[in-house]
Amino acid sequence: MRTEEDLATNVASVATVPADEMAMQSVDVEVVVPAPEEPEAEVPSERDDPARELVFELKDLEVRYSGNTAIREVNLDIAAKEITAFIGPSGCGKTTVLRCLNRMHDITPGAQVIGSVTYHGENLYGPKVDAAEVRRRIGMVFQKANPFPKTIFDNVAYGPKINGRKRSELGDIVEHALTRAALWDEVKDKLKHSGLSLSGGQQQRLCIARALAVEPDVVLMDEPCSALDPIATARIEDLMDELKRDFTIVIVTHNMQQAARVSDRTAFFTAEVDDAGRRVGRLVEFDDTEKLFTAPGDPRTEGYITGRFG
Ligand SMILES: Nc1ncnc2c1ncn2[C@@H]1O[C@H](COP(=O)(O)OP(=O)(O)OP(=O)(O)O)[C@@H](O)[C@H]1O
Ligand SMILES: [Mg+2]
Repeated sequence: MRTEEDLATNVASVATVPADEMAMQSVDVEVVVPAPEEPEAEVPSERDDPARELVFELKDLEVRYSGNTAIREVNLDIAAKEITAFIGPSGCGKTTVLRCLNRMHDITPGAQVIGSVTYHGENLYGPKVDAAEVRRRIGMVFQKANPFPKTIFDNVAYGPKINGRKRSELGDIVEHALTRAALWDEVKDKLKHSGLSLSGGQQQRLCIARALAVEPDVVLMDEPCSALDPIATARIEDLMDELKRDFTIVIVTHNMQQAARVSDRTAFFTAEVDDAGRRVGRLVEFDDTEKLFTAPGDPRTEGYITGRFG
């Protein structure tokens, strides 16, 4: 459970969690300790590459809301300095899986995370792991840009300030983060203007700058372009391409062209009705993006990407 103290120190979550989610902080959440690993036969796949540095490994991940399984049997790994895309029809569990990657379900009412998520080889849900530090290192950008009602400068400086960075350092930190988010040139003369005075696409880049200002390792993006026009979308896509030199990015998108354009690997999820008549999300296929879009291994993937299903 998240405490008040967490909130005071948890820069990434304070900086990125919308107000309605902050309000849910006192709800009980059960996080199930991962089961001990069972030895199992390794099936070689095209994705096996010893040179890949893995950031996340998800094993038999299942998420339940109030006891109802939303998604189960998710096995995938996410490599450093790559862009991994999650695609699939609405309600199949993309956001649910994304939120497992920075323990956002700690603040989701009734959520239960089962299975194993490792982050750089460590159990992300281990008892000694500081959830506040997790959310600093693994930042999040939401579908709807959510700048604070503060100046552009203060939006970006907020996280570093809470993290104890000196006032004298903040100017450089803000410039650096805004430059990396490809927004500096557009706002350098109006840093004292409200973040809310920017256009939708600029606000989304401001939120990306805010996430970058606390020097994360991973940036999670949940449909970051869905409210943007094609020009603003192209800017964010170019930006992601730049950012992957330094960061690991996971993006949820409904835009299959976007997944095909920007990502290195793609996970296709779908929801299927189980024996009890409940819709449960499943990971159908996870592969190199080019392979998944040109020669999918599962007819359900092919049906979805060719528009015949979903
Ligand atoms: N906070 C919650 N409480 C209860 N059920 C939830 C909650 N969040 C998601 N669900 C359920 O879990 C399932 C997966 O939802 P999720 O939001 O992960 O899907 P999604 O693939 O991101 O969909 P979309 O593309 O519409 O954003 C859905 O059936 C949804 O109703
Ligand atoms: Mg979603």
